[in-house]
Amino acid sequence: MIKKITDSIKYIGVDDKTIDLFESQYIVPNGISYNSYLIIDEKIVLMDTVDKRAMAEWETNLLEGLGDRKVDYLVISHLEPDHAGSILRVIELFPDVTLVGNAKTFAMLPQFFEEVLEVEKLTVAEGDKLEIGSHTLNFIMAPMIHWPEVMVTFESSEGVLFSADGFGKFGALDTDEDWACEARRYYFNIVGKYGGPVQTLLKKAAALDIKIICPLHGPILTENLSYYIGLYDTWSSYKPEKKGVLIAFASIHGNTKKVAYKLADMLKEAGEEKVVVSDLAREDMAEVIEDAFKYDRMIVASSSYDGGVFPCMQDFLLHLKSKAYQNRTVGVVENGSWGPTAAKCMKEILSTLKDVTILEESVTIRSSLKESNMPDMEALVKAIINK
Ligand code: FEO
Repeated sequence: MIKKITDSIKYIGVDDKTIDLFESQYIVPNGISYNSYLIIDEKIVLMDTVDKRAMAEWETNLLEGLGDRKVDYLVISHLEPDHAGSILRVIELFPDVTLVGNAKTFAMLPQFFEEVLEVEKLTVAEGDKLEIGSHTLNFIMAPMIHWPEVMVTFESSEGVLFSADGFGKFGALDTDEDWACEARRYYFNIVGKYGGPVQTLLKKAAALDIKIICPLHGPILTENLSYYIGLYDTWSSYKPEKKGVLIAFASIHGNTKKVAYKLADMLKEAGEEKVVVSDLAREDMAEVIEDAFKYDRMIVASSSYDGGVFPCMQDFLLHLKSKAYQNRTVGVVENGSWGPTAAKCMKEILSTLKDVTILEESVTIRSSLKESNMPDMEALVKAIINK
């Protein structure tokens, strides 16, 4: 699919609706797009390639977009194979192409493709410009969003920011769905650890007159840019986006699940407007991680297991730790039929997280919820409502 973005900028990317797991870990029910762009001027710039999976369709788009012209420069914003996977094909088609990247790009590129050693290269650094006629590319380094070599490019004559993985979203381009939901799941699971670098980039971007954002995944953003930039500011500063409680549970035979839903009912009765309950054993972990970051409070409820905590709960908490989950309040519920151990394990992980308050009002269930547990349940509900 070729789409006109402006008179001289074309989208030549590809939708992938057959991939089973993006990055071998994320379900993408509506696929994913690998975005690639052409800037047509006295010189022609290709902004990134696509995953090798999609190379044939992309090559058709590329050649159609070029007409009888050739690629003069290939800007490599990001080396991850979902974008750099077709670089060698560009070199085969256009042996005189100049690869544009930064020092880190060219340090890593031969690790993927030794063949590039002989190809012409232009090494750029923060603030460097490349004039290709009436268009000027301004290079801005964006390390760790989400690899170290990442850079974004601002085309200043038309105000177009080529934002690499930033402002990306799961879902093919022809998917009609809310942007924020799948962009948030993408952000926290893929870029979430790197809030600091995103904040740095947002500060640089604030000085630019951006009219269009062209990310490497998901739709091209042309309107209401302050909405998207505002969400990125919230997400990358680890501020909760909404007031609400996520109850994430790990239940073996259903008794801990009953406790989770009982807590949800009690919270709602106590006036909490937004309560989300998630089954860690069955639901998409990436979605639950997204919700953990979205809301300001969380309750984790888990069965004890093998002298520790049920594995999917441990996996969830370690995922949160790796994504730099912070600045939230968490309540803990454990279940155990003989020696309950889940709370201790959960608290051990939670206590390593920055600015996470673990409520003292925890609950221990012995096998199944009983009337005798209600005072502790009520105390936990009261404590989390008052946070
Ligand atoms: Fe879309 Fe970090 O690759």
